[in-house]
Amino acid sequence: PAKPIQIKVVLLGEAAVGKSSLVLRFVNDEFQENKEPTIGAAFLTQKVRLDDTVLKLDIWDTAGQERFHSLAPMYYRNAQAAVVVYDITRSSSLDRAKSWIKELQRQANPNIVIALVGNKLDLASDSNENSNSGSNSPAPQPEESNDTNEEEAADTEGQSRQVATATARTYAESMGLLFLEASAKTGEGVVETFTEIAKKLDLN
Ligand code: GTP
Ligand code: MG
Repeated sequence: PAKPIQIKVVLLGEAAVGKSSLVLRFVNDEFQENKEPTIGAAFLTQKVRLDDTVLKLDIWDTAGQERFHSLAPMYYRNAQAAVVVYDITRSSSLDRAKSWIKELQRQANPNIVIALVGNKLDLASDSNENSNSGSNSPAPQPEESNDTNEEEAADTEGQSRQVATATARTYAESMGLLFLEASAKTGEGVVETFTEIAKKLDLN
């Protein structure tokens, strides 16, 4: 049998969005509630089968903490694919993902396949997604409100969806990226992320 084709994949994204958790789910089919932050980077491998082709993914899981930012080019240099992760419950993490994508488009291999992945999909309830559809009775409006901007996002931060699927998808499509939502916790979308990347790679 032919030697598997080796592909270098890098994961990038803000701290705590779940990069290591996605990789751990993909490689070992495991999930840890209290995963410790990555220091530097971690290296793991996993195979993906596409019809008759087997790809061996060499996966570099980078550290999201800003103090490690200067190391990132070592890991995305020569990478054929990148998974840029944000957390659907933290809108700042989508901004950070966009800046990673800009950096990749300026500095990485010009043919790099990039997937934008919204993680922690298990924290999005359907009622959040559909709250404005199909209802004839609008929610009651407050009669009077004197306070200005006192309600900040801190309320819901880290607990419910802050990034609408359509917002991220529209951005991803405009930039020519793959787009998926996933949950390292449940496994939803995880194998699909790496399979979609494999399909989009130009293997010839
Ligand atoms: P750095 O290594 O610091 O860059 O973080 P990271 O992006 O690798 O995040 P990590 O995988 O360490 O996950 C951070 C926290 O989020 C951990 O407590 C995980 O258990 C949790 N987490 C990761 N993925 C998910 C998910 O899909 N759903 C939920 N509910 N929690 C998740
Ligand atoms: Mg990590």
